[in-house]
Amino acid sequence: MKKKILTGDRPTGKLHLGHYIGSLQNRIKLQNDYDQYILVADVQALTDHFDDPEKITENIIEVAKDYLSVGINPNQTTIVVQSQIPEIAELTVYYLNLVTVGQLSRNPTVKYEIHQKGYNEAVPAGFFCYPVSQAADITLFQAELVPVGDDQLPMIEQTNEIVRRFNRLYHTNVLKECKAILSKTSRLVGIDGRSKSSKSLGNAIALSDPPAVIKQKVFQMYTDPGHVKASDPGRVEGNVVFSYLDAFHNDQEAVADLKAQYKRGGLGDVVIKNSLNDCLQLLLEPIREKRNSLDNKMVEEILYHGTEKAAQLAKETMKMVREAMCIQFVWHINNTK
Ligand code: TRP
Repeated sequence: MKKKILTGDRPTGKLHLGHYIGSLQNRIKLQNDYDQYILVADVQALTDHFDDPEKITENIIEVAKDYLSVGINPNQTTIVVQSQIPEIAELTVYYLNLVTVGQLSRNPTVKYEIHQKGYNEAVPAGFFCYPVSQAADITLFQAELVPVGDDQLPMIEQTNEIVRRFNRLYHTNVLKECKAILSKTSRLVGIDGRSKSSKSLGNAIALSDPPAVIKQKVFQMYTDPGHVKASDPGRVEGNVVFSYLDAFHNDQEAVADLKAQYKRGGLGDVVIKNSLNDCLQLLLEPIREKRNSLDNKMVEEILYHGTEKAAQLAKETMKMVREAMCIQFVWHINNTK
């Protein structure tokens, strides 16, 4: 039997190049060798978008289209809508007893996000606890491998702590520990050069962006403010165009040549931007075409079948969990009228 893999994305918007390089590329390869599940994490997305549920629901289909258009094959990968698997919520409630508030408050990714979102003292409890719900995602589907970016490592660690605690406490081995699979480039810088490429910061190139928008974003990219004239020597470190060329250009020798010339002086930003634009247009054109060929009904059917299959597995795991915890309540009344 193939090992199970699980990953997920919050459907807060269309997926972008950061997702492509950080995890989609990995998933396209992994689906050949593993039993892969991908969770469209609409419940987790609500933890910081509870005021805008329509947006999350609309984006479920958009994210699924992104998966299919980059080459996630629904015959090899099970795509699941998180909110349609209520067992995740049930398992989360049981796990919450196995985690302390102290542990949750030390999670570096959550700490950073709380700061970034400006929650200060008013952190929604659902948001604060989402790593526990992510542990439920992973273990409910019995995943042993989780391909993610390095910001998700604390979630994997938290999951394994819960697994060990659960198995020890209830004298069982029904839950499995998991391992992260990190990709080569786990963080792609945003076009502004300031932080990680992100939909909410508006500094990302979406996989579905039209050609003119791609070009416009490439030409907006932060380069080297000290490189005023083409003849000036330029800096490659911190230069967004070169970060993207490193990540996406398929001739790394050509990139090394461009870098050497740029550092010496004599190479204008327009030249490197044109080169990046060419390579991104080539990468994204077939993805956009595939996306345009997908109709909503077909995508919904894929989501429906994936979720159905996952629901079966969820029921099996929950049965084992309840048995291990001795939650096997039986009614002793005759309620047949
Ligand atoms: N937290 C992940 C992110 O923001 C999304 C996610 C939800 C996830 N459930 C998961 C990732 C389970 C891996 C496994 O990208």
